[in-house]
Amino acid sequence: MDFKNQTILITGSNRGIGKALVEASLKVGAKKIYAAARDVSSVPDFNDDRVEVIELDITNANHIAKAVELAGDINVLLNNAGVADFNSMLEGPMDRVQRDMDVNYFATLAMMRAFIPVLARNDFSAIVNIASIAAFVNFPMLGGYSASKAALFSATQAARIELASKNISVHSVNPGPIDTDMAAGMEMDKATPEDTAKNIVESLKDGVPDIFPDAQGAGMFELWKDDYRKLEAAVAEMHGAG
Ligand SMILES: NC(=O)c1ccc[n+]([C@@H]2O[C@H](COP(=O)([O-])OP(=O)(O)OC[C@H]3O[C@@H](n4cnc5c(N)ncnc54)[C@H](OP(=O)(O)O)[C@@H]3O)[C@@H](O)[C@H]2O)c1
Repeated sequence: MDFKNQTILITGSNRGIGKALVEASLKVGAKKIYAAARDVSSVPDFNDDRVEVIELDITNANHIAKAVELAGDINVLLNNAGVADFNSMLEGPMDRVQRDMDVNYFATLAMMRAFIPVLARNDFSAIVNIASIAAFVNFPMLGGYSASKAALFSATQAARIELASKNISVHSVNPGPIDTDMAAGMEMDKATPEDTAKNIVESLKDGVPDIFPDAQGAGMFELWKDDYRKLEAAVAEMHGAG
């Protein structure tokens, strides 16, 4: 899926990876971008009349229904919005575990379900879900988040199989640590959101089904592929439990 001439809706486009994805899509010649955000006043001025800002809290069914009406011409749905609670899922607040699942899994799934009729109107279209390398291994300080991203990765696989007959190609994106607000408290090397977005757009052009857009995430996936327990052991060591 070459983003050139495509009409794309990007959730959580006001900051972080979402904002960088808007910029990267504009750079490669997207036809139109719906830059969706919970608070429209927080969306930066992209200074480009191909961008239309829309209000969209993905946990709000009315917002989703309105977005389907407003953005009925898209052929790419880019589900980027997400939240992360940095707590133990066993000892931290249960409502935070619930929130990770509500936003990252159920609300993202609701977006896919709502936009399928829109996407199916095109000869060819795509859904891109930003999951995480945490879909493959649970980082205990992000226990609920990791579980929610595993659920999203699984739903992405289901959608890929179910939607093939509608010519909707479905992709997961599985970043490692990226230098955004979400990862602000993580003391480690991080890729920039700009490089991450550029790599996502390039990988989509190459038709990669499951994208690992940064070196650290890609390295962790290689370890997982070799033996998933090796990645688990590496994470345990990070937590001083190896
Ligand atoms: N940064 C990383 O290390 C990393 C690694 C792997 C995967 N990811 C994933 O990448 C995606 C983007 O994250 P980021 O790093 O750019 O984090 P970020 O800077 O914290 O941005 C998160 C974005 O999601 C939006 N959002 C949260 N809840 C929402 C809701 N209910 N409805 C609509 N928008 C909502 C936020 O909007 P507000 O401004 O209104 O809060 C914000 O635009 C997420 O799915 C995240 O899980 C990030």
